Amino acid sequence: MELNAALEEIGRAESLEALQALKVRYLGRNGLLTQAMKALGQLSPEERRERGRSLNEWKERLERALEAREATLKEQALQKRLEEEAVDVTLPGLAFPSGGLHLTSLILGELLRIFRRMGFSAVEGPEVESEFFNFDALNMPEWHPARDMQDTFWVEFKGEPSFTIQGPFGEEVNSLGGAVLRTHTSGMQIRYMIRHTPPFRIVVPGRVFRYEETDASHEAMFHQLEGLVVGEGITMADLKGAIAELARGLFGKEGRVRFQPTFFPFVEPGVQFAMWWPERERWLELGGAGMVHPYLFRVVDDYRERLGLPRVYQGMTGWAFGMGVERLAILRYGIPDIRYFYQNRLSFLRQFKG
Ligand code: PHE
Repeated sequence: MELNAALEEIGRAESLEALQALKVRYLGRNGLLTQAMKALGQLSPEERRERGRSLNEWKERLERALEAREATLKEQALQKRLEEEAVDVTLPGLAFPSGGLHLTSLILGELLRIFRRMGFSAVEGPEVESEFFNFDALNMPEWHPARDMQDTFWVEFKGEPSFTIQGPFGEEVNSLGGAVLRTHTSGMQIRYMIRHTPPFRIVVPGRVFRYEETDASHEAMFHQLEGLVVGEGITMADLKGAIAELARGLFGKEGRVRFQPTFFPFVEPGVQFAMWWPERERWLELGGAGMVHPYLFRVVDDYRERLGLPRVYQGMTGWAFGMGVERLAILRYGIPDIRYFYQNRLSFLRQFKG
């Protein structure tokens, strides 16, 4: 038996099975080395000692070689498995489709959070509104030129009413005129005041409708957020403070507000307001506001009186504002066409997924 040849053979073994066969061949019960050991008995004591020592050494070296090769083969097998079973983390994963809030809902949520921090509660009103709440009670009688400013969807029910509009207490108000798809959320100022005794602070999010020829900047349906605060000693300064707080909520510490005089029949004085957007160093025209016109308090008290309720609006003051929700998003994100909002194209909606 040639030790070096055996060691070399072990070092070349290609598999654990081949290695096992070699182990049997050399060290097994009938292995070559075992046989050589058995043959020791036929030697002289002198030779036996010499030969025995070298056979023991061979045995040790073979065992070590077998162990080393076994370790190498196992390591190689493991490497191979790791390579075969490796996961390519750069491959695209499985997409789990999930829904998201619409851009309008995201903006409304942001606005409502800011007003809730200031102690406002949010209330909603009907989208099909009586002519009375949408116009007349807001100091816009039939002949009023401001009524032409709003191109309105009329809902047929003059003459024989096919349905009735419910007033703030569920009473019928069809006798007071026709019905419209509300052109603004300001009608809720009247509805809310009729039902509630001041002081209060509310915001009213909601859909509004205008009979528009649609184009990039006009849509027949959009959203407004209305605000109304009524109490004793409420002033224009409170209005400015609240809108400034809104500006800071939306645009950070440096958000500011600018008032410019304008006319709405239901406020006096009336303003249009813009907010300073520090990031872009621009003013954004966002809505209208003003001190609640005394005419509204009188109409509300008259209405309450007809329902047998006390007149509670004498001596009160208040302010109101109304702003466009899509308008804020359009200005802030540079959306080029208002029609994108409700075409439900995923390529648009996904950009704003909340
Ligand atoms: N309703 C007005 C509009 O639609 C906005 C407004 C609300 C103005 C409240 C003043 C006070 O343009």
